[in-house]
Amino acid sequence: MKLGVPKEIRSGETRVALVPSELSRLGGVEVLVQRGAGDDARYFDADYEASGATILATAEELYSSADVVAKVQPPTPEEVGMLSEGSSLLSFLAPAAYLDVVAALAERKVTAYSFELVPRTSRAQPMDALSSQATVAGYRAALVAANKLGKFFPLLMTAAGTVPPARCLVMGAGVAGLQAIATARRLGAVVSAYDVRSAAKEEVKSVGATFLELALEAQEGEGGYASAQSEEFQARQQEMIATHVAGSDVVITTAAVPGRRAPVLVSKAMVEAMRPGAVIVDLAARSGGNCELTVDGQELDHGGVLVVGAGDLATSMPTHASLLYARNVSSFVSLLVKEGRLAPDFSDEIVDKSLVTVAGAVHHEPTRAALEEKQ
Ligand SMILES: NC(=O)c1ccc[n+]([C@@H]2O[C@H](COP(=O)([O-])OP(=O)(O)OC[C@H]3O[C@@H](n4cnc5c(N)ncnc54)[C@H](O)[C@@H]3O)[C@@H](O)[C@H]2O)c1
Repeated sequence: MKLGVPKEIRSGETRVALVPSELSRLGGVEVLVQRGAGDDARYFDADYEASGATILATAEELYSSADVVAKVQPPTPEEVGMLSEGSSLLSFLAPAAYLDVVAALAERKVTAYSFELVPRTSRAQPMDALSSQATVAGYRAALVAANKLGKFFPLLMTAAGTVPPARCLVMGAGVAGLQAIATARRLGAVVSAYDVRSAAKEEVKSVGATFLELALEAQEGEGGYASAQSEEFQARQQEMIATHVAGSDVVITTAAVPGRRAPVLVSKAMVEAMRPGAVIVDLAARSGGNCELTVDGQELDHGGVLVVGAGDLATSMPTHASLLYARNVSSFVSLLVKEGRLAPDFSDEIVDKSLVTVAGAVHHEPTRAALEEKQ
């Protein structure tokens, strides 16, 4: 079985799907790497070769030789065109956002697995790329905030006087939020956090933050996720959270509901009530943003408050983001391979749930319904 690792070509992507140290975990699999694929993440061709990979000069060669292609970003239409008919693809596919790509993958009879669809079960944890990349993004969000804030995070007692600690509010205490809390705490900020899931309370406390008790009912969905919230709930939530936002130096937002637009937690009026110099880092920027003013990939100054639309912070730390992602990839590939041969068991829960297209059809029901609706 040949596993191909192309160079990512979507703008701003610095990660690579496999790193040299993971090759040892892929016994019996022949690894092909496109020349320069790991350069931006600081994994070089010579290191891949020393670990047993073959370097191929072009994307065309790589795509046409691989039985399975492992990628980070959803393929572009050109990349889909280079995949061999009947080959397999493992990547973030964001199927709801890239319906045309899914249709093209089905037409090309590609067996495509989406990391967003890997179930959140204990057996699937080593393959949970959403979590590994959210860990990076959460850590990075606290550092971005500390870097942009014109204040210290920790309490400082100096000969020149005492400086109070920064006040940081984290909204959404899932994987990214908990990591942001832990990092902001390590830097010495006073951190409070809020989540609509009741289980988040103990987790928030365990990483050293205060949980905000709001008189709002929990919004628990399936599989440990939050459920979609009504506009009325969001309006009440904004009202209750407003004074906490206004009193914060830093607000880090990570709130998401899978497959939906991110809930708006910080309105324009709430930003206007914050002190000049305050910083908002919005990790939900890609799915619409938790702040009404967020623009993904941009930093904008609104009356002295900086709103950072940070939808892809994992790409800003590509070495370790790629290392963790590569572990997710090698774990998933190991599930598909038996004695060096590609032999997916489609009755396996992880394989079945992650599968988007197979044998010319769209297997993932919500994506198939969305495609039918579009036609
Ligand atoms: N293998 C596993 O068992 C596994 C793996 C990863 C995550 N999880 C769990 O899944 C859950 C969600 O993880 P995630 O980080 O991917 O979630 P996510 O990225 O979908 O959402 C981030 C957080 O936003 C919260 N949220 C949604 N709407 C909100 C609102 N209006 N206000 C405040 N918060 C809001 C969610 O409850 C969630 O905690 C967590 O409980 C996590 O521990 C389990």
